[in-house]
Parts: sequence; C-alpha cells; structure tokens
Amino acid sequence: MLIAPSLLSADFGNLQREIEMLNSSEADYLHIDVMDGVFVPNITFGFPVIKAINAISTLPLDVHLMIVEPQKYVSQIRDCGASLMTVHVEACVHLYRVVQMIRQAGMKVGIAINPGTPIEHLVDIINEIDLVLLMSVNPGFGGQSFIKNTLAKLVRLKKLIADSGSNAIVEVDGGINAHTGGLLAQYEADMLVAGSYVFNSPAPHHAIRALKAL
Ligand code: DX5
Ligand code: ZN
Repeated sequence: MLIAPSLLSADFGNLQREIEMLNSSEADYLHIDVMDGVFVPNITFGFPVIKAINAISTLPLDVHLMIVEPQKYVSQIRDCGASLMTVHVEACVHLYRVVQMIRQAGMKVGIAINPGTPIEHLVDIINEIDLVLLMSVNPGFGGQSFIKNTLAKLVRLKKLIADSGSNAIVEVDGGINAHTGGLLAQYEADMLVAGSYVFNSPAPHHAIRALKAL
C-alpha cells in the first residue's frame, strides 16, 4: 500500500519539523491540499508555501488541487516541484486538455472525483491518466468521517480500470484510519491519504507504518 500523509492536519507553526518527521517515515508521497474558497468552502495555501515545503521534503509531492480553473496553474505547480498533479473532474470543462497540459509539463496526472460524482465521468479519460483520487469525504476539511459508499464505488472503479486496460492506480482520500484503511485494502485501493489519523497520533511514524502494512 502506498501512503501519502496529508499535511493539512500538520502543525503549521512547525512545518519544517513535521516534514522532516515524514522524511524519516515510511510514507511514499507528501499529499498537499490546495483549496481556493470557491471550489470548496475553505482556503489553505499557495505556491510560495508549496515551494518551501518541497525544499524540505525528500518525498515526492502529490498536489491535490481543490480549485476552479486548475488549467491556469499547471506550470506554477510544476515549478513548485510537484511529481503528481491532481485536478477535480468537477472543476474541468475541458478535462482532456488539462490532462494533456499536465502530461506535457512533465508531471504524473491524477483526476479527483467527489463522493456524489458517478465514476462513469471517467470512462473516456481513464486510459490517459496515472491515478484516480477517489474522495471518501466531501473535500474541504480534514477530520471528517469516511463515507461508506466509497467501498462500492471503489469496486466499480477498479472494474472500469481493468475493463479499459488502464494502468491508473486508485488513491483514496478522507476519513482514513486503521479501520477504514483496512477495508480499503480489502477492496484493492492502491494508495491512501491520511491527515488527522497521522498528525493527531501520539506516534505518527507508527500510524504511517500501520497503514503501510495494510
Ligand atoms: C480533504 C482533503 C484531505 C484531508 C484528509 O478535503 O482532500 O486530503 O486532508 O484529512 P483526513 O485524513 O483527516 O480525513
Ligand atoms: Zn486531499
């Protein structure tokens, strides 16, 4: 299982210490949640902060953009050092073009999908992308409860991927802990995002290891 701790639940007054903790953990990616106050009802941080994070992180950056018009920022996200850029299917009128732009900029391409959006919206793009980010909460905030319908959706998504011959992996984001992570492992998720479970733990390294072992 690939693990991407979300920095959203970290101590922002001590970001360097938090990132160094992740550097020395078994995490595979560093998940960065960018929110614009329009696509979701919350605002986080932008390019200067992501650049500063990248300068300290030895993990590849998995940048999850919860913003409208993400196509405007492809080169800035690349210049921040992102390895993987994920945009929401709900935020892209010309999804195919955005995917091509991210690919041409030299990053891996992810498409995120909200809990209420049917996976059928991915049918015509699934062979062009590296990752589907299946939201298991309504995006906008850390610390929410896992939406159980995600499991049934994951089954349908894995079938869509297999039937299309796509190489896309599935990352699940929101409400993940040892219990929900265990269920997602059984349903063949490939990568888990965990924010509050990791950063609210008295021993974040152990929390990451517990997820990694699922
Ligand atoms: C939610 C973000 C998540 C969030 C997960 O909009 O996309 O990445 O940080 O936080 P937890 O793991 O606390 O649900
Ligand atoms: Zn996220």
